[in-house]
Amino acid sequence: MALFYQHNINEHTRLGIWRIEETESFFLEKVPLKKDVSHPYKRLQHLAGRYLLPTLYKDFPLEEILVADTRKPFLENEQYHFSISHCGNFAAAIVSDRYRVGVDIEFVTPRLRRIAEKFLHPEEALFLKDWEALSHIHLELTTLLWSAKEAIYKWHGEGMMDFKEHMRLSGTIVSAVNDWVTMPFEFRKRSVVPMTVKGRLFDQLGLAWVVTEV
Ligand SMILES: CC(C)(COP(=O)(O)OP(=O)(O)OC[C@H]1O[C@@H](n2cnc3c(N)ncnc32)[C@H](O)[C@@H]1OP(=O)(O)O)[C@@H](O)C(=O)NCCC(=O)NCCS
Repeated sequence: MALFYQHNINEHTRLGIWRIEETESFFLEKVPLKKDVSHPYKRLQHLAGRYLLPTLYKDFPLEEILVADTRKPFLENEQYHFSISHCGNFAAAIVSDRYRVGVDIEFVTPRLRRIAEKFLHPEEALFLKDWEALSHIHLELTTLLWSAKEAIYKWHGEGMMDFKEHMRLSGTIVSAVNDWVTMPFEFRKRSVVPMTVKGRLFDQLGLAWVVTEV
C-alpha cells in the first residue's frame, strides 16, 4: 500500500495521491486495462490512477469507465464524477458522488517558466511579477496556477480551451497556515462561472483541485 495522501474534501468528495512503488502486475490484479498505452511507464501511471478510484470509493465500477472523444474518462450513469492526474511516480484522483470535479498534480520545475506566456493572461503574469525577486515562491505560484488551469480543463472536460482567456484568476491568492492555498477563478467560456481552486505543495509536487455543483 502506498497511499501518499488522502483527504475527504466534503462528505461527498474524496481525494487521494498514490506514490507508485509497485509493478504493473500489482495494479492489473484490480484494474482492467482497456486502453492501449504502449509506453510502459505511462501504462503504470494510467493503471495507478484507475487503481485509486476504488481505493477512494470501494464500489467504484472500474469496468464501466468510458472515454469521451476529448479523452475525458467518465461513467455513463454518473454514479461518480471523477478526475485523474499523474506525474512521475505519483498518481492523483478525486471522486465525488455528487459534485463535478477536476484534479491536477505537477512537479515544480523551471520548465514551466518557459511556457508561462502560453497559459497566463497578462494580468495573471503581472500578479506573478510581484514575486519575481523571490524566485522559489514565484516558481511555486507559477506551478500552482498551471495545475489550477489543468484541473479546470479536466473539470470542464470538453477540450477546446484557451488557457489564457477561458480560465482567469479573479482575485487574491490566499495562503492558509494549514498549507492550503485558495485561488479564486472565473471560468469564462459561455458564461462567467466563479469557482475556487484549492492548491497545495508537497515539497516539489504541486496539487490543485476544483469541486463545484454539477
Ligand atoms: C488532458 C491534459 C489536461 C492532461 O494533462 P497532463 O498533465 O498531460 O496529464 P495528467 O496526468 O495530469 O492527466 C491525464 C489524465 O487526464 C484525464 N483527461 C484527459 N483528457 C481529459 C479531458 N478532456 N477532460 C477531463 N480529463 C481528461 C485522463 O484521466 C488522463 O489520464 P488517463 O488517460 O490515464 O485516464 C493535457 O494533456 C491537455 O490536453 N491540456 C490542454 C492542452 C492545452 O490546451 N494547452 C494549452 C495550454 S498553454
